[in-house]
Amino acid sequence: MATPMTAYRDRTVGDIAARLAGATALFRNHKIDFCCGGDVPLAEAAARGGLDLADLEAALGALAATPPDAPPDSATLADHILIRFHETHRRELPELVTLARRVEAVHRDHREAPHGLADLLERAAAELEDHMSKEEQILFPAMQADYRGSLDMPIRVMRLEHDGHAQTIHAIEELAHNFAAPADACRSWQALYTGAEKFVADLREHIHLENNVLFPRFERRWS
Ligand SMILES: [Fe+2]
Ligand SMILES: [Fe+2]
Repeated sequence: MATPMTAYRDRTVGDIAARLAGATALFRNHKIDFCCGGDVPLAEAAARGGLDLADLEAALGALAATPPDAPPDSATLADHILIRFHETHRRELPELVTLARRVEAVHRDHREAPHGLADLLERAAAELEDHMSKEEQILFPAMQADYRGSLDMPIRVMRLEHDGHAQTIHAIEELAHNFAAPADACRSWQALYTGAEKFVADLREHIHLENNVLFPRFERRWS
């Protein structure tokens, strides 16, 4: 585990995101993957993205000067994830699918129309429903009851499924041209990209909180 004395460049992006308040927003703005791709050192992530490492370290240093809030206990964090992310995905995805179907139908001849986005969002909703149900029925109740046996196997399965969600995120971003609507896009098209961009940001934050904050508290602690 990294200590506070370790230089940011040598710490993994996921570790920094988990421990430094405000780091996730900074990483999101620089398109640094801190959820499923978060196990690489900051120096490597900066090199991959063509980013200035010194600038990044300076920005992280400025964040560190702000005292962070105390991290919530695991039961509270799990509740937060359920309300802020599980419920939000379930509420917002059906509307996004409806919007995407309308945009694809009305603008089927438009060169930049996001052909296939509705099907992709529908598949993402089904995959997420299956995944979130498992967390809600098995994993989170065990965590909230402070179960002392091994949760390593179900956590490993959830992490693998998160990797699949990350691939879905990339596919959505690609199909939706990184949410840059053309100048002649109608209101529905603009609303679709605004909503899809929010969904993707939410899902990244959701996976980050599980992979980098909640799950590590329960891995290998039984041995
Ligand atoms: Fe979740
Ligand atoms: Fe999850």
